[in-house]
Amino acid sequence: MTVLVGYATEHGSSREIAERIAAVLRRSGIAAELRALKAVGSLDRFEALVLGSAVHNQKWLPEALEFVARQRGQLGRRPVWLFSVGMPAALPRAFRAMAESEGPKIIAPFRKALNLRQHQLFSGAIRPDHLSRWGRLFFRACGCRYGDYRDWDRIERWAAEIAADCATAGGAQRSA
Ligand SMILES: Cc1cc2nc3c(=O)[nH]c(=O)nc-3n(C[C@H](O)[C@H](O)[C@H](O)COP(=O)(O)O)c2cc1C
Repeated sequence: MTVLVGYATEHGSSREIAERIAAVLRRSGIAAELRALKAVGSLDRFEALVLGSAVHNQKWLPEALEFVARQRGQLGRRPVWLFSVGMPAALPRAFRAMAESEGPKIIAPFRKALNLRQHQLFSGAIRPDHLSRWGRLFFRACGCRYGDYRDWDRIERWAAEIAADCATAGGAQRSA
């Protein structure tokens, strides 16, 4: 089985998450192809898709949204797993539950076009130089903290679940 692991990133943390997902899939015997979404053409040879993007202002990056618009007709024909990379873990504890509810909002504009298996909102990495001067002020005023919040165990567990799903008769082949 050939699976596309496609990503959109601004500062690299989403690409590294995609790399880790692809590595776990490969260890499970799946031919996972890692690609930047802006460089993906035909989806014909992929039986399943794992797609992810960094989140800016509660939306996927423009190149990821363009990919979804461009491939709309194809996305309902094969199983799709989505991941969004934001910063719930950078928020003060009191806001974290609220941030977790950001997940459904992020994918709402294109959710219906997909044969969606699952969506995960992961925490990524955020540094002062990622933000504008006003962004930094706002970040601090909200009590957020810079750092690399990627939970590699959680990411690997999710990738292993995808691999298991792909391997069963109820996985990609049934839905493709
Ligand atoms: C300008 C900007 C806006 C952001 N907006 C959001 C947001 O609305 N929600 C969120 O959860 N994270 C937000 N983040 C955090 C990023 O999604 C997070 O840092 C992520 O790891 C970035 O991924 P990347 O390294 O692949 O670009 C924002 C980051 C930046 C720089």
